[in-house]
Amino acid sequence: DGKSYKWFMHKELHEVPRKIKEQIMMPQEDLDSFVKTILEAERIFITAAGTAFYAALAGKFLISNFGGPYVEAILCSEFIDTLPNMPENSVVIAVSQSGETADTIEAIRYAREKHGAKICSIVNVVGSSLTRYSDEVIITTAGLEIAVASQKAYCTQVSALTLIALRIAELKETYSVEEIKKFRDALLKTVDIAENILIEEGKIREIGEKISNETNIYFLARGISTSAALEGALKLKEIAYIHTEAYAAGESKHGPIALIEEGFPCIFIAPPDATYSRLIGNIMEMKSRGAKIISVVADFDENVTEISDYTIRIPIENNKYAIATSIVPFVLTLQLMAYFVSDFKGLDPDKPKNLAKSVTVK
Ligand code: M6R
Repeated sequence: DGKSYKWFMHKELHEVPRKIKEQIMMPQEDLDSFVKTILEAERIFITAAGTAFYAALAGKFLISNFGGPYVEAILCSEFIDTLPNMPENSVVIAVSQSGETADTIEAIRYAREKHGAKICSIVNVVGSSLTRYSDEVIITTAGLEIAVASQKAYCTQVSALTLIALRIAELKETYSVEEIKKFRDALLKTVDIAENILIEEGKIREIGEKISNETNIYFLARGISTSAALEGALKLKEIAYIHTEAYAAGESKHGPIALIEEGFPCIFIAPPDATYSRLIGNIMEMKSRGAKIISVVADFDENVTEISDYTIRIPIENNKYAIATSIVPFVLTLQLMAYFVSDFKGLDPDKPKNLAKSVTVK
């Protein structure tokens, strides 16, 4: 875009609108044969590691939220132990930036060679090992990602998974033709939303500054946003070295609430979807024990904003189509926030200590 950036991570986050647009415009034929293979299976699994797993988890929710079949998400490092007796006629959707993650390769080789599963992969690197072991491949459009922490790769993975979920909905006729079109239009609008988030990134930077001295932070959400909470927590941990934990908000009262005291920061991902009013209950539980509430909400939000100490507003429209396709804008915001915190702390967000871009050991 002609601008100069201090770090690759920041530059790559600014590539997100263009990259997700390319993904959303991907050839229909590639999508069709991928979806056909998924729908022919009796059981559907989705597997990955790290950030790619959080994209996978979002994909599982997207497919079911749009009326598609049940998808079981399993970490690739747990795949074999979770499925010692894998069912016949299964398909495994594998998600990976590098296509070389040893745990992912091991899981899909096990599924394919021992149990005859079909492998459908969503991969960023063309010609990687994962593409060679797969029956169907969707190549993500992120392009070369230099920063070690995944961000634009994640955004393209989730855009691809949204397309898959919508195509399944279309084939299964869970929505009318007009509604599917409205969801597709809304998905395309995430490109402009991402652009607006980046134009207004100073607001996210301000919140980043406020949390940069924290040592512990909870990320809480419900439903599909739990996957966003997990990714937000991982990013902040990886590049800003803050101890973070992410939970399904309903779980907080089953243990994590024990740590809450005056000023303990809790970041709530609070889109106005079916989980909204139950999430408000969880926010109140934390607030009444003194937690500092930082929330990521829709632009038009009022209720969560009222009970929060700080809010980050996501510029989405107030309709069900925009809300159902808003996961990438919410996560992009959390990734940007992690970047700013890292920068405030004078760290190198591109090369976090102890991490490798591609983890080729099991
Ligand atoms: O190359 P992959 O997408 O298979 O990598 C998976 C994880 O190793 C990767 O997402 C990791 O969690 C990153 N550090 C996330 O920023």
